[in-house]
Amino acid sequence: MNIPDKLIMCIAETQKVCILTGAGISAESGISTFRDPGGLWSKFNPAELASIDGFMSNPKLVWEWYQYRRGIVNNSSPNAGHYSIAEMQDKFEDFTLITQNVDRLHQKAGSRSVIELHGNIIDNYCIDCKTPFHGNINSANNEVPICEVCGGLIRPAVVWFGEMLPEKALKLAYKASENCDIFFSIGTSAEVYPAANLPLVAKQSGALTVEINPNTTAISYSMDYCINSNSGEALPVILDLLTKLRGKK
Ligand code: OAD
Repeated sequence: MNIPDKLIMCIAETQKVCILTGAGISAESGISTFRDPGGLWSKFNPAELASIDGFMSNPKLVWEWYQYRRGIVNNSSPNAGHYSIAEMQDKFEDFTLITQNVDRLHQKAGSRSVIELHGNIIDNYCIDCKTPFHGNINSANNEVPICEVCGGLIRPAVVWFGEMLPEKALKLAYKASENCDIFFSIGTSAEVYPAANLPLVAKQSGALTVEINPNTTAISYSMDYCINSNSGEALPVILDLLTKLRGKK
């Protein structure tokens, strides 16, 4: 793997870093991505399983799918990529981690103040009164739980297609992208907006932009550096080189 010396020098000299992650960072933890060959959207229909209309047409089917995905997430552990990012947070004065992932593996690895653009798969709330649900979600027949306040159906706290992203998270994400010196886009196909816009916003605001992804993406052409490797391999190397270089000073 080739990590250019010039890039490591730039990373070592900067204090303002912003990282955007997508499903690829969790691939080495055994969690499927969405758009790779064999990914979730090649086997399942997003309109059926990841939209409010899909949920209203068949709540049990959607609930069962999220229960299945929760099972995978709950049995997964962070990988070297997540741990490297968690370690990086204390190496810069100004560090922001934005994720599109709902698996909470960044937090499990020790990352603090993670901006979750697409919610998370752990929590649930009522579709009607929006009250968070903390009751039993594991009924024998995988029945959709019912809100204890108003009797509405309970849904996972993920952002579905056609829904607004959480306003505060999006605002913070734009602010960090506009104000960083180096922006990393890691493990995302950059197909889903507005998240896909953040690397471009960073670039337009003058940041050095770095993509870490084994494949070419929709934004590769506009990045300053593309590291064509798995994030679980590239990030520990970057962290190690950075630590050595900073140690020398
Ligand atoms: P995608 O599945 O669209 O893209 C995953 C990216 O990860 C691809 O570009 C892969 O090349 C890359 N990849 C695969 N293995 C990798 C590895 N080991 N290291 C680094 N990169 C790797 O996933 P996202 O871009 O995250 O939204 O998708 C964005 C959103 O689309 C998701 O948050 C989800 C989905 O619909 C919602 O559910 C709202």
